[in-house]
Amino acid sequence: MPGDKSISHRALILGALAVGESRISGLLEGEDVLNTAKSMAALGARVDRTGDFAWMVHGVGVAGFKTPQTPLDFGNSGTGCRLVMGAVAGCPIAAAFDGDASLRSRPMRRVLDPLALMGAKVIAGGEGGRLPLTLQGARDPLPIEYRSPVASAQIKSAVLLAGLAAPGITTVIEQEASRDHTERMLKHFGADIVTTAEGPHGRRIALTAQPELHGAEVVVPADPSSAAFPIVAALIVEGSDLILSDVMTNPLRTGLFTTLREMGASIEETEQRGDAGEPMAQLRVRASKLRGVEVPPERAPSMIDEYLVLAVAAAFAEGTTVMRGLQELRVKESDRLEATAAMLRVNGVKVEISGDDLIVEGRGHVPGGGLVATHMDHRIAMSALVMGLAADKPVKVDDTAIIATSFPDFIPMMRGLGAEFV
Ligand code: S3P
Repeated sequence: MPGDKSISHRALILGALAVGESRISGLLEGEDVLNTAKSMAALGARVDRTGDFAWMVHGVGVAGFKTPQTPLDFGNSGTGCRLVMGAVAGCPIAAAFDGDASLRSRPMRRVLDPLALMGAKVIAGGEGGRLPLTLQGARDPLPIEYRSPVASAQIKSAVLLAGLAAPGITTVIEQEASRDHTERMLKHFGADIVTTAEGPHGRRIALTAQPELHGAEVVVPADPSSAAFPIVAALIVEGSDLILSDVMTNPLRTGLFTTLREMGASIEETEQRGDAGEPMAQLRVRASKLRGVEVPPERAPSMIDEYLVLAVAAAFAEGTTVMRGLQELRVKESDRLEATAAMLRVNGVKVEISGDDLIVEGRGHVPGGGLVATHMDHRIAMSALVMGLAADKPVKVDDTAIIATSFPDFIPMMRGLGAEFV
């Protein structure tokens, strides 16, 4: 399995903000992460590839970025772009941010608003809160207490990264906990960061400004969001028995596994261990008879990238699956709520969007035969291809190049498991 995308971005960014050398192994060498690596180099860090998936970063220190000579291009990646906006906001430099057509259509105000409270401002572009734009970082960043209106790790991380340079304590409060990789990794690099519970599902994260982070070693675990594709493939293709090693099992990322188990999936976890503050395990997945379930809205942050492939599993299940509270899916690499419904419909599955809920009628099999529009969204392409593995007729997608943003070896790996691509 490829390295975790969230962890890979963060390892490069924290490595660049630390003093001295950081070594990263198992880095995801997908386009999204490589764009973050390039932007760290453009901001003054030394970033070298030292072997397969092995990287070394020589950081510039907190607030030490230099003005980049050209716009930073984040391609398809909201995570790279928004986290680096936070890191730049704490430095007295201006940097231009840009991305592909998908990223240019995504909302940036959710990150720019709190960063403005800390003293950063957009000095060019940014029409409608969209890329391209130039961000002027703060000379004297202010610590803030920010109650995030959305459960988004990207918003939280941007504020915390800016907060490293804001003398005092920067606090982020979230009503629903989002993935906590930034908090865990900041601690690993020596930051003073404390998390406490806030309400039934929320968290309060307090970071004390940091004159210096030290370099660290990061072992990147396998990405559970990428593992989701072969896992669902194994569940729906009769006779499958698959073992995946070192898959990250951070509870804020494993909502899909919980849901699939509720549907009757056989997913066994063995050999748990941890590295750089992240738990991981070996997973054994066997083809299973699935049934429809109801997925509660509070589970969404822990499986926000997995609804597309869950919808595929739901289509092969017996009975109705109701997925609630999916409003955030509308602002991902594509409008994933509409795209999921379209992907299923064109392949003969009965599906309905009701407000922010997605309802899939599982009939135990999928007719298939449809052509799926990927809308520059890697996860649509992979979900549709997984559906094709078990559908009555093959499934077509209009673009596979976009898969390289997160899972460059998806097709050869699935071929190795017996999948046929034409
Ligand atoms: C990510 C956070 C999530 C997720 C994205 C990765 C991260 O986005 O969808 O793929 O690494 O912080 P939001 O923060 O917008 O929910």
